[in-house]
Amino acid sequence: MCVLGAEWSNLTRLAQAHNQLTPPSRETPFPLRSQKPCLTHLVPRANHNTGTSKDLQYEPSKRASVLKSFLMEFYTALLAAGLAGLVLLAVVALLLHHRGAYLMWHIYLQGYMKSLFSGRSKEQRILDFVLKHAVPGDPTSVLNAIDKYCSQQEWAMNVGDEKGLILDRALQEASPSLVLELGTYCGYSALRMARLLKQGAQILTVEFNRDNAGIARQILEFAGVKDKVQILEGPSEEVIQQLQKKHEVDTVDFIFIDHWKDRYLPDTKLMEELGLLRKGTVIVADNVIFPGAPDFLQYVRGSPKYDCTFYPSRLEYLDVEDGVEKAVYKG
Ligand SMILES: C[S@@+](CC[C@H](N)C(=O)[O-])C[C@H]1O[C@@H](n2cnc3c(N)ncnc32)[C@H](O)[C@@H]1O
Repeated sequence: MCVLGAEWSNLTRLAQAHNQLTPPSRETPFPLRSQKPCLTHLVPRANHNTGTSKDLQYEPSKRASVLKSFLMEFYTALLAAGLAGLVLLAVVALLLHHRGAYLMWHIYLQGYMKSLFSGRSKEQRILDFVLKHAVPGDPTSVLNAIDKYCSQQEWAMNVGDEKGLILDRALQEASPSLVLELGTYCGYSALRMARLLKQGAQILTVEFNRDNAGIARQILEFAGVKDKVQILEGPSEEVIQQLQKKHEVDTVDFIFIDHWKDRYLPDTKLMEELGLLRKGTVIVADNVIFPGAPDFLQYVRGSPKYDCTFYPSRLEYLDVEDGVEKAVYKG
């Protein structure tokens, strides 16, 4: 027993000496308190109940591999975002240099992108600009503000300042009492015509997009011409058929056609059939070259019922060939 006791105390001393000299190893199952703290002792216990977090606390190699896979994912996402940005830049560069793409950018994408980021429609942005920069009750200042915004900030489908002059002249020559416009949009052309109307004359303007009609109403009211312009909401083919019964229209003196191009011809024929045109009614049609209304042009130019004049011009706010057709109905 004595020999055994001496052997045991030697072994214990040897073990203590070993513990003092040897730093704790990862394999040490039960580290002694006297050992120097290693990194694992500094990790706070996130969750004592799950085996996984215990594993993570006490196994730096596992933590390192989690960190490594996180970094891999992070760099992959960063690379993907960088590539997407480069592709977007290439698309924008292409759009700006190629003619069709240039139009696509100005007409569709630019406004769409702005709307995506601002949460407001292009038409609302036009209204905002008018309210901020134009003078209430001053139609010219409202038209100038819209032209400025649409030529400098973002394109919009108003008849615009260049073709607007052709429209002004045709309207002044005709001196109409009743004007019908197909396609109101933000009310730009209605305002152009309203400011030139003789006393007591009226404009009926047709728009099937509620939001556009709402914007136009606010712009026309701000410009001080709301008494001269009535917005009729609905598809042109329906509104035209209601003009005589619902709106007590007999015939129309002046018509500005500026809605979707595939409706130019059927709506012109419909107005003819319903007897809304009288001898001398002036039809002015916008965008007959771009985007173009070839079936309408062919019909009015080939018909003995119309006297036609073409006015070459450019698409609103862009350097693209366009033109306006004036067709005077001869009965
Ligand atoms: C080119 S914009 C009109 C621009 C406006 N005349 C100007 O110069 O300020 C065409 C408008 O016609 C509307 N529109 C298109 N087709 C229509 C239809 N069949 N009936 C009623 N409105 C229509 C569109 O919603 C759009 O607001």
